[in-house]
Amino acid sequence: MKNIVYLCTAVKLLDDEQLIEILNSARENNTERNVTGVLLYSEGTFIQVVEGDDADVDAIFSKIETDTRHKNLITLINGPIQERSFSDWSMGFSTAKADKVDHLIGYLKHTDELSQKQDSSAAIVTLQTFIETNKLLISF
Ligand SMILES: Cc1cc2nc3c(=O)[nH]c(=O)nc-3n(C[C@H](O)[C@H](O)[C@H](O)COP(=O)(O)O)c2cc1C
Repeated sequence: MKNIVYLCTAVKLLDDEQLIEILNSARENNTERNVTGVLLYSEGTFIQVVEGDDADVDAIFSKIETDTRHKNLITLINGPIQERSFSDWSMGFSTAKADKVDHLIGYLKHTDELSQKQDSSAAIVTLQTFIETNKLLISF
């Protein structure tokens, strides 16, 4: 098993509908390949973790890489893992100022769930840093 963690910039600021479109195709493909992970979006920047069997993660990532909705993709982590950090999520996600997306399954109203996760894997620590620097904390 492996995981990939990357950052990228949306070519333009995305609204909720466009985010939902990305999530829908992500979840369909990821479920098919048993790939799990999380996607965070804040002010035009995405960070995503994808994890699963090597061939599945690589196949999903090559789809993502060629997507023209983002640019400046930087891979932070691409390596083996012992176990998944997000086994329950075909693609958990969160964004600041959510409106239409907040009812979707897998939406993290409070990123506390990630911030406080007792998991010192590189992927989690990277996400926690992103959350902290982007103050991606939504409270209703
Ligand atoms: C930031 C971002 C994250 C994405 N994450 C995924 C993902 O986890 N899985 C996936 O299949 N597609 C993801 N996509 C969409 C892919 O880039 C691509 O549009 C999609 O896989 C094409 O699906 P299709 O071949 O079934 O049409 C993402 C797109 C963006 C912009």
